[in-house]
Amino acid sequence: MAKWWKHSAFYEIYMPSFKDANGDGVGDFAGITSKLDYLKDLGVDGLWLTPFYPSPKVDNGYDISDYYAIDPTYGTMEDFKNFISEAHQRNIRVIIDLVLNHTSSEHQWFQESKSSRNHPKRDWYIWRDEPNNWESFFSGSAWEYDEATGQYYYHAFAKEQVDLNWANPEVQKAMSDVMKFWLEKGVDGFRLDVINFLKVKDTLQDNPYDHEKNEQIHLFDKDQEGILSAIKDIAETVHQYPDKFLVGEVGSEDIEILKRYSGTGKLDVSFNFNIGSISEFDAEKLFSRLVETEEAYESVQMPTLFFSSHDMSRHISRFGGDEERAKLIAALMLTAKGVPFIYQGDEIGMQDWIADDISVMMDVQGRLAFEEAIKAKTKEEALAVANERSRDKSRTPMQWSSDAYAGFSEVRPWITVPDGSSEINVQNQQDNPDSMLSFYKRLLQLRKEHPSLQTGEYEFLRYKDGMISFMRTNEVERTWVALNFSEEVKPLKIEEKVSLLLSNKRMALESETAIVTLPNEALVLKEDSEK
Ligand code: NOJ
Repeated sequence: MAKWWKHSAFYEIYMPSFKDANGDGVGDFAGITSKLDYLKDLGVDGLWLTPFYPSPKVDNGYDISDYYAIDPTYGTMEDFKNFISEAHQRNIRVIIDLVLNHTSSEHQWFQESKSSRNHPKRDWYIWRDEPNNWESFFSGSAWEYDEATGQYYYHAFAKEQVDLNWANPEVQKAMSDVMKFWLEKGVDGFRLDVINFLKVKDTLQDNPYDHEKNEQIHLFDKDQEGILSAIKDIAETVHQYPDKFLVGEVGSEDIEILKRYSGTGKLDVSFNFNIGSISEFDAEKLFSRLVETEEAYESVQMPTLFFSSHDMSRHISRFGGDEERAKLIAALMLTAKGVPFIYQGDEIGMQDWIADDISVMMDVQGRLAFEEAIKAKTKEEALAVANERSRDKSRTPMQWSSDAYAGFSEVRPWITVPDGSSEINVQNQQDNPDSMLSFYKRLLQLRKEHPSLQTGEYEFLRYKDGMISFMRTNEVERTWVALNFSEEVKPLKIEEKVSLLLSNKRMALESETAIVTLPNEALVLKEDSEK
């Protein structure tokens, strides 16, 4: 039997926005637990939880101030344990987000580190007398001056997210203890935040500049020497516990870089941004990214498939707001080769939200962009820049029903509930066989019934005139998938007899051969002459 994660479909839960059970307007563990039956019924096998540790929440939990506890907004350790046990009872596994690259500036370690130049923890972070030219991935310089000790510290993200010094073995040891703590609590693995950022070039030399694009090239602040050995150590710690899974956020769209990080003794998989963060819809480009991944991974490594997350625009909005296209993307994610990660709300076709005033923008990245833009632009222009950068667009509350606040909470939630929630919600879709939700359920069910769709190899992977098609095979079955992204009827050259497994456009095939695909159809067929 292949490792469990190879045949699992994951679902990302953005902690503050999934379900509020205690009436404070923020999601929590009791809320998630109350929705486990919904997730089971949807058909997902694993959950990825975004950070839930105590945090000042400058970056919504990606600034951890205590790695050994639960933020009170999300509940107690008892609530956490209860959630894990309820998930496991339903055969749903849980992986948790871990931020190893940086801590909150309020973390005790940093407080000690900044207390004096001679403190034993000074070297747990990266301190220098003079900054270099490195830019933060959020905005401005990556260095912040500390008056008290007269030095600068390094932060790749917000100044309240201070980069740890992974060249220091004490840091590595401290984080390995953190991982063991959560593994002992029964989690099934980790999603490792910005894991290719752990090491920076020790000479701290300036990054070069791309004058055409007018931006810095992040050459020395990520993917540095020693990073793979750090990851191997992490994997070794984690795999002392049987059956654990490691997925890494490797911030790169370059397949050659991505592929270095996964494989035996390293990460199990990393997020394939080369596929997932395609900005505009283009079936041919999407196809070429699938092919490039397949060629690079050579059937040895397994890719991941995702098109939305809490960090990006939802694919339905990014690709033009069209429901049929969103269904095709869902079909691709759940039938092509890779470990799928569905982002909460995509299964009901939730759309991006745009802030109409800076006062309602919650995301630090958006607000920093606004502060920068307002220096030279009008308020409207600066708001547009901020909305472009802000990740609030996909972080609005899960839309459960047409009730007030979308049934997410009894009180006004921490972030605006979009107007469309009275139309687009779980309640409206659950009994409608043509809904997005029903389509996701059918796809997830199909994956379960047809192992070739989980771990099968590609017998072929083709593109022609707006249609992506492939065949997935294993020892027992051959499954055809044709995704017609065009507005025209397209023929499918099939010689064998086939039967229909799934379509978003029809209930039955007109004939067993001479099949065509309809405009915007996702068609899954089973070859009847089994191998
Ligand atoms: C990636 C996380 O997904 C994102 O939300 C966060 O802002 C950065 N890492 C920094 O931790």
